[in-house]
Formats: sequence, structure tokens, C-alpha cells
Amino acid sequence: MTDQHKHQRPPSGFNRRAFLKGSGAAATALAGGTGLVQAEEATTKIVGPDLKPITLNVNGKDHKVQAEPRTTLLEVLRLQLDLTGAKPVCTHGSSGASTVWVEGKPVEAATTLALDCVGKKIRTVESLGGDKIDPVPTAFVHHDAMQCGFCTPGFVVAVRAFLDKNPQASEAEIRAGLNGNLCRCGTYANVIQAALEVVQGGKNG
Ligand code: FES
Repeated sequence: MTDQHKHQRPPSGFNRRAFLKGSGAAATALAGGTGLVQAEEATTKIVGPDLKPITLNVNGKDHKVQAEPRTTLLEVLRLQLDLTGAKPVCTHGSSGASTVWVEGKPVEAATTLALDCVGKKIRTVESLGGDKIDPVPTAFVHHDAMQCGFCTPGFVVAVRAFLDKNPQASEAEIRAGLNGNLCRCGTYANVIQAALEVVQGGKNG
């Protein structure tokens, strides 16, 4: 077993191919085998259910990875690319902990399929580090805007993405703009102060 495969979830007992075949057959039977149903079957592109080699562009580099149709972007980032900044908190996108950029827009990697990201530019919180650290994580340190830190990478990406669009945001606007991110430790006040420091310090961007 390769390193890539050992991190994959086990194959599902029920897969989309079987479902489409089954539902198509049922629909054909109900419709008496009409041309419409047959045409729909002919144009439905079925991918998987097995692992498929794909290339994802993450933080400016192309990476060859393996993904099933159900594999999320978060699983690929964390388990195959070792980019563990984005966090797995929920599978329905209500925490903001897995926030990354896809084509410049903040999205929850936990609810984004890896296959849907082929050909798109993905950026993670790790892109804000390196030799020239972005002012947002620096401000988080200044204001001690973390406790357990589990939500912090998602908040950092969310703040960076919000301030990129709203460089002169007010406190009220920042509060509204970050309302998709949750922190169980209750660091909200410090996160807001960190974002305000970036705005007021003129270091935004
Ligand atoms: S710092 Fe612990 S969840 Fe936010």
C-alpha cells in the first residue's frame, strides 16, 4: 500500500456509479425506455468510484494526488500534501475552520470536492508564511487572538480574504464579515482587534 493510499478512506459500499445505473434503469422501466432517458444516460459523465490521479495547483505549485469523487479538498490538503493548517471541524461548512482560497474566493475545503478544484488555483494559510509573513498572522500574535488555536488558521484566511476586499473596514463591518467563522474558545474580541490593527496600521496588503 502506498503512502497516498493508506490515508484514503475505505471504499464505500454504495457508490455513485451504482446509484446512477440503478436509478437510470428504474427511470427507463417507468418511462418505458423513452429516448429522453436513454439520451440522459448517454450524456451523464460518470467518474470513479475508484481513486483517480489528478493534479491540483496549491500555493503556486502543481501536485499530483489521488482522489475519489467523494474526496474533499481538505482531505487531500491534510493527508496527501501535509498542509495541515486548514482544520477538520465539521463536514457541513458551519465552522470556517477549513477555509482556504479557490480561485481567489474563500471556501470551506471540508465541503469542497477535490475533483472540482482541478484546473483552479488553491491557496492555503501556509501561503501567508515564509520569509515575508503576512500582517494578519502577525497581528494575531500581537493581540493573542488564539487559545487552543484550532480555529485560528481559518480565521486568519477569513480575515485576510475580507480585508483584501475591504481594506478600510470598520469594526462593525469586520464583525459582520467574519460571522461564518466560529471559535469555541471565545477569542472573537481579540480576532477583531487583530483585524483592526491591520486596517489601522496601514499594513493591509
Ligand atoms: S482558539 Fe480554540 S477554537 Fe478558537
